Amino acid sequence: MSDPQRIAIVRDADIVMARQAGRELAALVGFKGSDLALIATAISEIARNILVYAQRGEIELSVAEEGERRGIAVVARDQGPGIANVEQAMRDGFSTGGSLGLGLPGARRLMDEFEIESQVGVGTTVRMRKWVRR
Ligand SMILES: Nc1ncnc2c1ncn2[C@@H]1O[C@H](COP(=O)(O)OP(=O)(O)O)[C@@H](O)[C@H]1O
Ligand SMILES: [Mg+2]
Repeated sequence: MSDPQRIAIVRDADIVMARQAGRELAALVGFKGSDLALIATAISEIARNILVYAQRGEIELSVAEEGERRGIAVVARDQGPGIANVEQAMRDGFSTGGSLGLGLPGARRLMDEFEIESQVGVGTTVRMRKWVRR
C-alpha cells in the first residue's frame, strides 16, 4: 500500500485513470464521501494541466504518513514549458489556455498542502497532500 503508483499522462483517458486511481487510494487510506470527490477533482485538474500545457508527464500517488496522520500524496511532474510567473498562475481566473483559470488555485483549496515548483524550459512539479480528518 505504500508503494507509489505512477500514471503516465499522455492522453485524455489517462486523466480519467489518474482520477480514478486517486479516488481508490483515498478510499483505502480512509477518506469518505465528499473528500473522495474533492481529491479526484484536484488530481484531474493537475493532470489536465499536464496534458494541455506540457503534452506529457506523470502523476504519482502514494500514502502519506506523518506521526499519527495519514493521507494521500499526489505529485505531478512534467518537462514541459514551465510557468514564467507562478504567482500569477495561482490566481483565480488567470489562464493562458482560454479556460477558467481555476485549476491550480482550486486544487490548492481542495487539498491541505500544495506546492508548485516551475522553471521555464525545464518543467513543472506540483506536490499536494491531504490528511484524513480524525
Ligand atoms: N503543467 C503546466 N505547465 C505549464 N504551464 C502550466 C501548467 N499548469 C498550469 N500552467 C499555467 O498556469 C495557468 C493556470 O492554470 P489553471 O489554474 O489550471 O487554469 P487553466 O488551465 O484554466 O488555464 C495555465 O493557463 C497555464 O498558463
Ligand atoms: Mg487547468
